[in-house]
Amino acid sequence: MKVIIRNDAHEASLWVAHRIADAIKAKAAVSDKPFVLGLCTGSTPIETYAELIRLVKAGELSFKNVVSFNMDEYVGLPVEYPESYHSFMFRYLFDHIDEPKENIHILNGLAEDLDAECEAYEKAIVKAGGFDLFFGGIGEDGHIAFNEPFSSLQSRTRVVTLTEDTIRVNSRFFDDDINKVPKQALSVGVATVLGAKEVIVLATGPKKARAIQQSIEGPMSHMVTVSALQNHPDGIIVVDDPAAGELKVNNYRYFKAVEAAENR
Ligand code: PGA
Repeated sequence: MKVIIRNDAHEASLWVAHRIADAIKAKAAVSDKPFVLGLCTGSTPIETYAELIRLVKAGELSFKNVVSFNMDEYVGLPVEYPESYHSFMFRYLFDHIDEPKENIHILNGLAEDLDAECEAYEKAIVKAGGFDLFFGGIGEDGHIAFNEPFSSLQSRTRVVTLTEDTIRVNSRFFDDDINKVPKQALSVGVATVLGAKEVIVLATGPKKARAIQQSIEGPMSHMVTVSALQNHPDGIIVVDDPAAGELKVNNYRYFKAVEAAENR
C-alpha cells in the first residue's frame, strides 16, 4: 500500500484529480477501450470533482470514453431528492463534464427487486471490462463504500444496513435529523472495489485520523473494511496532514521518504 500525505485537503484533492486524469489519458493513448472508473460521493471528493471539471473545461481532459459506476445509493430515496447520490453526482460532476449519459451507472435504490439490481450491477461492471481505477472515501468507522464493520472482505454488490454511526454522520445532509436518513443502501462490496486495477482512497480532516490509522497500521479486518486495501497490489491512500495525525511518527516519515525517493 502506498500512502501519499499532503499538507491540506486542497492539495490532497488535487493530487487525486490529477492521478485520475493521468490514468484516463494514459489508457486513451494506447487503447480505444473505455476507461472504467469507480466513483464515490460525500464531502471529501467535491474538490477532486471540481478539479476534474476544470480540466475538462480547459480542454485538457475528456470523459467521452469513460464509463463510470458509483459505489452506492440509499434504498428508497427518490433520485430527484437532493440527498440522493444520483442528485449529488450530477450536481458535483456529471452536469459539468462530457461523459455520455449512457456511460453513467448508479445503483437504483428504488428497484423493485434490489437483489436483482445488485446482481445486474456486478455483471455490468464485468461487461464493461472491470474497473481501471476505483476512487473511494473512508467513513469515520473505516468503511469503504457502505461496507460497514462486519462486512465480508469478499463481499459483492448487495443491500446493506447502515450502522448508527454512519446514520448519525450522514444526518448532516438530512436536516440533522437521524430519522430522515435511510437505514439501508445498495453498495458495491469490498471485493468489487478490490477487483479494480488501482484503488485510490482519499481522506481529509481530523475526523478521519483514527480510521486512517487503523486501516494503515492495524490488521486487515472486517471491522475496518478499508484495511482490505492492504491486500491490493496497487492501493493508494491519500491523506492531508490532519487525517495522518494518528499515524506513528516513524511511519509518517517513511511514507514521506518513499514519495521523495520515487520523485527523485
Ligand atoms: P465523507 O464520506 O466524504 O462525507 O466524509 C466518506 C464516506 O463515508 O465514505
